Amino acid sequence: MANQEYKIEGKGSYESTSFELNTVDPQEPSRQLHGGHPRRSIDEAPEEFPVKTVFPTPRTTFGWGAHESVGEEAAALGMDHALIVTTGLSGTGIVDSVTDILDDADVASSVYDGVTSNPKDFEVHEAYELQQEDGADGIVALGGGSSIDCAKGVRLVEAHDGRDITEFEGVDKAENPSNLPMIAVSTTAGTGSETTIYSVISDTDEQYKMALADLGMLNSVAIVDPALHRTMPPHLTAWTGMDALTHAVEAYVSRLGVKSNRAMAIEAIRLVAENLPQAYANGNDREARENMAWAQFLAAQSFNSAGLGIVHPMAHVLGGVYDLPHGLCNSIALPAAMEYEVPATPELFADITERGFGVDTSDMTEMEAAYRAVEEVEKLKADLNITQTWDQIGMQEEDLEKCSNYAFEDFCTEGTPRDLDPATIADLFMVNFDEPWVRYDPSEEPSRITL
Ligand SMILES: [Fe+2]
Repeated sequence: MANQEYKIEGKGSYESTSFELNTVDPQEPSRQLHGGHPRRSIDEAPEEFPVKTVFPTPRTTFGWGAHESVGEEAAALGMDHALIVTTGLSGTGIVDSVTDILDDADVASSVYDGVTSNPKDFEVHEAYELQQEDGADGIVALGGGSSIDCAKGVRLVEAHDGRDITEFEGVDKAENPSNLPMIAVSTTAGTGSETTIYSVISDTDEQYKMALADLGMLNSVAIVDPALHRTMPPHLTAWTGMDALTHAVEAYVSRLGVKSNRAMAIEAIRLVAENLPQAYANGNDREARENMAWAQFLAAQSFNSAGLGIVHPMAHVLGGVYDLPHGLCNSIALPAAMEYEVPATPELFADITERGFGVDTSDMTEMEAAYRAVEEVEKLKADLNITQTWDQIGMQEEDLEKCSNYAFEDFCTEGTPRDLDPATIADLFMVNFDEPWVRYDPSEEPSRITL
């Protein structure tokens, strides 16, 4: 049993001696996307992930009014009858608008509007049943990550004659190519799911979120329209924006080292830092909304190949166990995880401070500049009035063992730049479990937003 202690300066820590955590099995690397968890043996090659994979992204229509092209795109893909997969987007009028646009292009449609946040396995199958009943020959995913991830699952299930979606957890589990063309229209600025090969679906029997990665799930076309993002209320703008920031930070420092995607990640961080507070404070700020649309798009394209880190597995677990909002969970986990990771790659975190957050680091050491990135994230969270602790949003300490083990098993852990095990993850949960852990005290400096 792992029994190690990780301590963030100035705060208590969790010593993992009260329960059994999974031990690391060096013989079982198959769950990993790029070939193995960073385990050490004397026979291992000195370079981790020596062969990189850069995954494709779909053709994308981007800009104000882009969603109006959904009809012609569907027709061009050969759709006669589209299944719209959505949460319903209540009160926005978006579903009716897209239905009308499809109709004008002579594409009939059925609407599955049963998707919920942290999309569930049975929702994938309900949507699949509707697709089968109505003979839909294509899919239009309409919403944030939940709707798009659910639609990706439908595509996978349909290609395998209705097999259970839980059979496809992991990497490259599809045996058949997808038959249904799919258009993903994003209505939030955070997930980036419209441009990735990933889907995250809740396994309701096991009460956790499965991560799936498969080229067969990649949608045919993506549509990113900032006009739709304006319908988000402030708290959703904040949470989804912090999801985008987390994608970018985790991709930038990922130990997978996909350098081609770092430029996208650092630009995404810069755009979030400069625009998320404004988009949150004024949902009609056109420039801020457009820049956040680019930010989430760039961040997702970056992690599509560069992978993520431990923040996402922690958020996946809490989404599955408690049905908590993904972006909010990322926001709570991110600063302490960065603090833990800085010693592994200070040069990259220093880059985030200087090039991402625009801080003059000329009078700082590299390590000082690196830790400053943690403070910049904390300042951003303060501007967005984001919750600081896990127990405020409903996590129970009695679930710590389960949550830590599940998070470790998530293949997204592989990008974490600093070595970790389930005991470390338990420590990361506990460090701001019931009181905030912060490097920077927001009360010492007024918000950059004048309310
Ligand atoms: Fe995310």
